[in-house]
Amino acid sequence: MKARDFAELLGLESLPEALDAVAEQLIGTIDGSAELAQPAIRMLEGGGKRLRPLLTIASAVAAHPECSVSPLDERVRAGAASVELVHVGSLVHDDIIDAADTRRGVETVNSREGANQAVLVGDFLLARAGIEAARVSKEVAFSLAVTISDLCDGQSLEGAHEFNVDRTTDQALASIAGKTGALLRASCHIGALCVGELERADALAEYGMQFGMAFQLVDDLLDLVSTDALMGKPVNNDAKSGVYTYPVLVALAEDADPDAFRALMLGAKDSQQAADELKARVLASGAVTETLNRIGEYNKLASACLSDLPDCPTRTGLMELPERYLNGILTEKSDPAHRTW
Ligand code: IPE
Ligand code: IPE
Ligand code: MG
Ligand code: MG
Repeated sequence: MKARDFAELLGLESLPEALDAVAEQLIGTIDGSAELAQPAIRMLEGGGKRLRPLLTIASAVAAHPECSVSPLDERVRAGAASVELVHVGSLVHDDIIDAADTRRGVETVNSREGANQAVLVGDFLLARAGIEAARVSKEVAFSLAVTISDLCDGQSLEGAHEFNVDRTTDQALASIAGKTGALLRASCHIGALCVGELERADALAEYGMQFGMAFQLVDDLLDLVSTDALMGKPVNNDAKSGVYTYPVLVALAEDADPDAFRALMLGAKDSQQAADELKARVLASGAVTETLNRIGEYNKLASACLSDLPDCPTRTGLMELPERYLNGILTEKSDPAHRTW
């Protein structure tokens, strides 16, 4: 989906211009030394989809339909910039952990400037996010800080189960809630907080969390069925790096020879043949359908969260957005050779 498609879905004609205003604000916050600023700007200007600021803007309107989008309300602009800064800062750190060499189609900071500099660039972006949030209100700053803490928690849960072939699907989902759900939750929560709609903020937060769960499950599926070029980042990387995702764990649970399956999971680290065989086994199993069903359930839960908000085109659009967006991503980004659904 392009910015124009989102604009139509959400009934927000000037959404593309509003997102441009957020992009300008993002770059405007970067006033550190060239050593920090250059890689930070490279990551911020890479081909990101800008989903989180989009959710902040749409949530602000759904919570408070009078909110100005053209020009974009300054508080919403700062709130939207703050969530994208957290996103990009956390990706810079994630790429160190995953030893990834590309992100958003450009070279990662750990790959070009080195891991030490990547720690600092990530910290720098997270701190700039805090500044943007604090500009709006203490509620927004608080929500953002809780989120960064949840992101760390979710990511550390993932690390704790690295190469654990006995990881359960519930453990995988708990990690997802922290590492991805929390930031989509904050993106929506902060939209409502920016326009002073504190009572409507919780429903939007829960919507963002459910959408975030579905979003990460789609990313986990795409790790199995997409390509580096389509994603702008390395794929087929999760099992190799010991991250056993939901679809892999579901396939393990239903495999006729679980010991052999576990051997492939462990073998994927050093053997491309094992990694390929593991992937083929997951794709031939019922795990893809089960994961797609899960995604559908989270999408429905997300929509239901908005039932008590005032009826307006943006609310209706948000209710449809998780399914429309994720189905679009699954079609656009999956390699037809691997698409089994
Ligand atoms: C990547 O998020 C990190 C995950 C939670 C899977 P996106 O897929 O939204 O990344 P960008 O912003 O488009 O680069
Ligand atoms: C999401 O997990 C990372 C963060 C939320 C920071 P992944 O490790 O799956 O994300 P990608 O695939 O690298 O974008
Ligand atoms: Mg990663
Ligand atoms: Mg991933």
